[in-house]
Amino acid sequence: MSREIFISFSNRDRAKTDKIVDALEKLGVSCWYQINDSKGKFAHEISQGIKESKYFIAFVSNSSVESVIVQNEIYEAVDKHTDSKIARKRAAKEGDAEVLANVPEYKILPVELEPLDEENKQEANIFLGIFNWLFYSDYDSEMLLAMAICKQFGIQNDAIRESSYSAIIPLEQQRLGYQSRILALQMHPVLEKLCTELEQPIVLDVGCADGTATLAKFEGIPLGDYVGLDREFDDERMKTLYEGRDDVAFVRADLAAGEHVAVLKDIMRRRGIVAFDIIHISFVMLHIMDCVSVLRSLKQFLTPEGYLVIQDIDDDQTLVYPESRFFSDWKLIWDGSSETGDRRVGRKLPIYLKNAGYRNIRLQNNSLDSFSLGEEDKKAFWDALYNPKYWIASEEDFVDYDTYLKLDKYRADHQKSHEQFMNNEVFVNQGIFIITAQV
Ligand SMILES: C[S@@+](CC[C@H](N)C(=O)[O-])C[C@H]1O[C@@H](n2cnc3c(N)ncnc32)[C@H](O)[C@@H]1O
Repeated sequence: MSREIFISFSNRDRAKTDKIVDALEKLGVSCWYQINDSKGKFAHEISQGIKESKYFIAFVSNSSVESVIVQNEIYEAVDKHTDSKIARKRAAKEGDAEVLANVPEYKILPVELEPLDEENKQEANIFLGIFNWLFYSDYDSEMLLAMAICKQFGIQNDAIRESSYSAIIPLEQQRLGYQSRILALQMHPVLEKLCTELEQPIVLDVGCADGTATLAKFEGIPLGDYVGLDREFDDERMKTLYEGRDDVAFVRADLAAGEHVAVLKDIMRRRGIVAFDIIHISFVMLHIMDCVSVLRSLKQFLTPEGYLVIQDIDDDQTLVYPESRFFSDWKLIWDGSSETGDRRVGRKLPIYLKNAGYRNIRLQNNSLDSFSLGEEDKKAFWDALYNPKYWIASEEDFVDYDTYLKLDKYRADHQKSHEQFMNNEVFVNQGIFIITAQV
């Protein structure tokens, strides 16, 4: 049976490799792992395993570099990699689309399990030096490393499908502006209370987008420093907003691929930050598959007196009176979209935090209602959540096509429902949770 990834390793490293392979298999990726597949007895089976695999991981350690079996596996994998490259190059030159489609590049990924002795490092580099490496020590859990491996290989399947959301689409930037305004209304009093204990807090903003939403939440609260982290930035916009400012810093890292730990350590060293007083995560957890791993990995960056502050959605907590098809379709439409992630993450956060090892987990607030808002805030509330003009999900983002079809009716009813909302003929209590926790 052919498997996606051939795993090359030394038996001495099994304490680590067993867990990583287990995590890969949990993500739905099949691995050719000698322990399971040939009991290490037959060279031709190993060779067959490499031939049939699409990707190759070389787990590199001092003992694997010295293992003759591992060396042979790497020679064979590098041969296959070179053959696939030559065939593709030739096909590209000759315009042979069939070969290009049927002969993918054989990808090799070295993963360093421990620091290598100088001699072993040189040895490993002879064959593996040309490839991109991952380092076990950069990842807080085997699951995060497994996700990073999938990202490197470009493996996508249902278990590791990311939400298709992007914050740098201009329309979404506009909608986020409205959302920021109402999220700040709900969050500001919570932060004011927490920050009376924390003098000039140093803030980490995880999934910061352009950073303006969080900075607005801290209005009037002096900050010691601010670091924003996101997997993507609109560079032009960031330049316009922050050029010449050294009181804020932004770093790029993908949480789902576990890139944030190394990236944060680096920026903290460069800014002289020992730990953060506030780690703020707003409307990000709904896009993350393995929330517990991400939350656990952030613990090391929080001071003992500090707070993790999460703000996120739970659509089932949203109450509307009088009910109407417009509002029930709103829920169905978003439920059916893969662009938006987990719309019921709010209620799960306390358990995620507990499983990640946090204490003092407190629900600070779980609703924002339309009647308590002034005219401009009410308009922002509507545009952030209910105005289809700002929705970016496209047809292919809908898991359920029938739900997608509801959009037309929703759009037709929009103007009338908006007017009723603005005239306080409809009451909406939006399910947005604010939860705090400490280490
Ligand atoms: C809905 S926006 C929220 C932005 C901001 N925190 C706010 O409250 O307005 C979600 C943000 O999370 C970021 N994000 C989503 N998945 C991420 C990941 N795996 N790693 C890093 N950032 C991610 C997106 O790029 C986006 O900027």
